[in-house]
Amino acid sequence: MSQRLVAAIDQGTTSTRCMVFDAAGTVLGSHQREHRQLLPRPGWVEHDAVEIWARVQEVVAGGLRNAGVDAADLAAVGIANQRETTVVWDPATGRPVHNALVWQDTRTEPLCAELAAGPGRDRFARDTGLPLASYFSGPKIRWLLDHVPGARERAERGELLFGTLDTWIIWNLTGGAVHVTDVTNASRTLLMNLRTLDWDEGALSAMGVPRAMLPEIRSSAEVYGRACGVLEGVPITAALGDQQAALFGQACFSAGEAKSTYGTGAFLMLNTGREPVPSAHGLLTTVGFRLGGEPAVYALEGSIANTGSLTRWLRDGLGVIGGAAEIETLARSVPDNGGLYLVPAFSGLFAPHWSPDARGILAGLTGFARHGHLARAVLEATAYQTREVMDAMALDSGLRLESLRVDGGMTANDLLMQMLADVLGVRIARPEMTETTCLGAAYAAGLAAGVWPDLDALRAGRRHGAAWTPEPGTGLGARQYRKYRKAVELAKGWLDEDD
Ligand code: G3P
Repeated sequence: MSQRLVAAIDQGTTSTRCMVFDAAGTVLGSHQREHRQLLPRPGWVEHDAVEIWARVQEVVAGGLRNAGVDAADLAAVGIANQRETTVVWDPATGRPVHNALVWQDTRTEPLCAELAAGPGRDRFARDTGLPLASYFSGPKIRWLLDHVPGARERAERGELLFGTLDTWIIWNLTGGAVHVTDVTNASRTLLMNLRTLDWDEGALSAMGVPRAMLPEIRSSAEVYGRACGVLEGVPITAALGDQQAALFGQACFSAGEAKSTYGTGAFLMLNTGREPVPSAHGLLTTVGFRLGGEPAVYALEGSIANTGSLTRWLRDGLGVIGGAAEIETLARSVPDNGGLYLVPAFSGLFAPHWSPDARGILAGLTGFARHGHLARAVLEATAYQTREVMDAMALDSGLRLESLRVDGGMTANDLLMQMLADVLGVRIARPEMTETTCLGAAYAAGLAAGVWPDLDALRAGRRHGAAWTPEPGTGLGARQYRKYRKAVELAKGWLDEDD
């Protein structure tokens, strides 16, 4: 077989998958495995990075097997990963010094409040594009250095390394030879300067993070090194945070193009072109992608913490459904939400509120409420949260979207697609291939390896799927959205000094 195939590894919050693509963007084979969610205390979320590395190797082997190819058939491999999740490890042994602190983990909230005292939550926003929040990696590194005995001294001597999951995987794939991250992942640490695209000395010293432990920041598409082991000899040529990978996989290459991905959370991203656009309405300014030596392309992002995770909660937490697909059937068993509104502030509220002390609220309960109404409230919450972010995006960018490209597991739910169209009042476009995260990592890796010549070739190969337009009279209008916003106000500030 000729070397025109590209593999993509998508290391996500709940699972890891590998897909093998041919030059037409067709999936030849894939494999996926979940890993454990470690929840030692309320609000704490950890992953075992060693387990994740084992899953990476399993899914790569499985993906190649299912595609009927081997490593020698691959022109390149690209990586997309859950962002912000923080691993610190000892390069001498390859062992992490602690479980990884996951992006959803809120243990660093007191530290963020302390750093914000006086200058405020936007202390680093001008340079890094981000508010001070437990979501990002910087405070998580600081927590590990403060709590693992001897870690700070060792990190200062360069005896411990930090990485997000891209860095951890590349380091392991190269047998410990390469310690790098890409600009999109680095832009989620609260430690990278958006203009210089280098670590920001001011943020590093304020956060107490030694530079010696940080990876080198590289572009999203270039040769980082060659893999050994399961991908023996394959060039590793792309790394992007998973949401940026989805932006790329949706071919949102030009300013003004936007996508929304529905995974554990939901992440709306708008390509804003070559200049970072500061947000005054609760969005994040972040790097969208950078291809080799070309200028970086920036994005505005609205991150929503809980959407797909709610389906899991209905299944595992409440036992209301047996599998993810059942939520649609259950929601369709009733004509409307029966007056129920759910604000899923399970780990506070992210964009556009950034309210760490918010907690979930189920409002409007009466004895009439059934499981079907709850299922609807869960789906509607996803649509209302998207609307909050889209409105903020319009205010920040001065741009009203006419259509939104969507992807991710939850978009298999046609009822949710219609709800989105109705609540947002825009056309919702779902591509034929909804695993755009893998596709984006493959696109970037294939561009760097010469499988595709340029962005136009990728744009031309895009396969459209289904679309939904707003339907008047569905009962999802301004009144319902107002009710939801009222419930949001109740959810905010729920935690107080006694908690
Ligand atoms: O910022 C967190 C995000 O990258 C996680 O995405 O798809 O793994 O839930 P996902």
